[in-house]
Amino acid sequence: MMRTHNCGELTAAHVGHEVTLTGWVNGRREHGEHLAFVDLRDHNGITQCVVDNDVDVRREYVLKVTGTVVARTPDTVNESLATGEIELKPCTVEVLSIAEPPPFPMDDRADDVDEMLRLKHRYLDLRRDRMQRNLRIRSTVNNAIRNAMTKQDFVEVETPMLMPSTPEGAREFLVPSRQRPGNFYALPQSPQLYKQLLMVGGLDRYFQIARCLRDEDLRADRQYEFMQLDMEMSFVDVDDVLIAAEQGVLDAAEAVTGVRPDPVERMTWHEAMERFGSDKPDLRFGVELIELTDVFGSTDFKAFSSATSIKGINLPDGAADYGRNKLDGLTDDAKKMGAKGLVWMKCVAAEDGAGDGAGITLESPVAKFCSPEEKALLIERMGATEGDLLMIVADEWMTTCEVLGELRNRVARPPVSEGPYKYLWVTDFPLFVGTDKTTGRPKPGHHAFCHPHLEDLDKLESDPMSVRAWAYDLVLNGWELGSGSIRIHDPELQRRVFALLGIDEEEANKRFGFFLEPFKYGAPPHGGFAYGIDRLTAILAGEENIREIIAFPKPQSGIDPMTGAPGEVDDKQLAELGVRVLPPAT
Ligand code: AMO
Ligand code: AMP
Repeated sequence: MMRTHNCGELTAAHVGHEVTLTGWVNGRREHGEHLAFVDLRDHNGITQCVVDNDVDVRREYVLKVTGTVVARTPDTVNESLATGEIELKPCTVEVLSIAEPPPFPMDDRADDVDEMLRLKHRYLDLRRDRMQRNLRIRSTVNNAIRNAMTKQDFVEVETPMLMPSTPEGAREFLVPSRQRPGNFYALPQSPQLYKQLLMVGGLDRYFQIARCLRDEDLRADRQYEFMQLDMEMSFVDVDDVLIAAEQGVLDAAEAVTGVRPDPVERMTWHEAMERFGSDKPDLRFGVELIELTDVFGSTDFKAFSSATSIKGINLPDGAADYGRNKLDGLTDDAKKMGAKGLVWMKCVAAEDGAGDGAGITLESPVAKFCSPEEKALLIERMGATEGDLLMIVADEWMTTCEVLGELRNRVARPPVSEGPYKYLWVTDFPLFVGTDKTTGRPKPGHHAFCHPHLEDLDKLESDPMSVRAWAYDLVLNGWELGSGSIRIHDPELQRRVFALLGIDEEEANKRFGFFLEPFKYGAPPHGGFAYGIDRLTAILAGEENIREIIAFPKPQSGIDPMTGAPGEVDDKQLAELGVRVLPPAT
């Protein structure tokens, strides 16, 4: 190495040593007539170097500095710097690279500049503490996960990036074939197809830190390209997969935070919907959904009497002070989410006696439609006290749950990266969710290859919507970290599920033939899981957006301001691929 030490490691214990450091000029200050302070920075920290005034170095110059470690006088010690007790003096300086002035500062002030500028010069952004720390956390996460998997006898296998287009799931990125013009490969949305074939191939336990590509709208938790810890196991039940899968997540969390999380809690999908109105409930806060259907069982209020499910949430901490604008905004939100309306009731101190119950009066435009008995029961059921705000939705069960779950998040949810970490397995997802508008047939909850819950198999044809799947999600602080299922390995059961989806044998062979054929040759029972490494890393790093833990992410537009990708290619390249570009649609 050109250096003897890193810029963050010298302390009073090194006083008297001659050392050589390499790094970037973080700043330079004149010191009297003859000397200057140069702060030298590398990935590890900053050291103050005392150099001759005539040494011409500026911000971001790359230097090799040799000098002797000396103790600073007590009044010049810098407590905020790991190396604040010492400096290098005298120094000889070799300039390894000169630099133009950077477009933004290499410290926390860059957090306030336009993110597009940061991404345009990502190589500079990466020099900052925040990015250095985040990418190192990411590496720690990857290491911990890989170790956790190999320790459990999982075999790391790479699967192809060029694969056939498959009709299910997200929109794919396509790659034109030069050798077969007019034909396309698809980039993998996930290694799902191949990992199941690895099970047919007898690998028993597979994992991969897999790059996946999906042409979806980009968001805080979504990129075109992302990494999954992808795994699959043979001869297992749900429990086996959950236990094997959570090891990597818990090991990674421990490696980053120093604290091993508690074993992951479990909850069925039905309970998650009932209590939190979400299949990815954030358990860091309460405000659970409360059942009210029976409270209004014989009500005259028509918005309630016509509904099959009535639930409410109680927002404490003085939410009763919300102004009319905020309440109207929440009502509009509820309607956009599919509710017919939203009833709110403010809990104010009763002017005399018990009021509507427990010493409070319910203030609401619809209070007059509720009987005294209903109000008293409502106050009791909701545990309402002065200053609370009650929000009630009446509809069919799913809508009631989802709308209140979303309102709960909007009003009370802390940022995803704020502690504590609450991991949760959500199990027993429904096999089918809703029906296809054109065909009237049930739609798969996850995909067509999920194994129905064994206990529900006999209801498959008679009551398909009530059938649970052996499908599960891992949730962290309200973010979906991962999904998986036990797969169907029996061709006959697969035929029954396809039949319900309206896919006959001919169509199944056409669409999934390359996938179904191998199952004729003896497929072991198997199941698996995949979780998003970007999402896990972001939360562990305390970041709200996965872009912050990816070296070279795409902004929301999908256009990379650094490289300009995607770009046009020349006609010769297109001709070779048999591709012609249409004029832009008007
Ligand atoms: P699924 O499609 O639910 O399951 O994906 C699993 C996990 O991958 C992450 N993820 C993403 N991360 C960043 N950007 C994206 N665009 C993105 N899309 C998904 C999420 C998600 O929970 N093959 C199945 C798994 C299985 O059944 O074994 C699958 O891919 O964290
Ligand atoms: P309406 O009778 O439609 O004028 O509604 C009276 C009040 O009840 C309004 O505040 C609506 O937002 C609310 N409301 C109407 N339908 C529902 C519903 N299904 N669930 C909850 N609130 C509702």
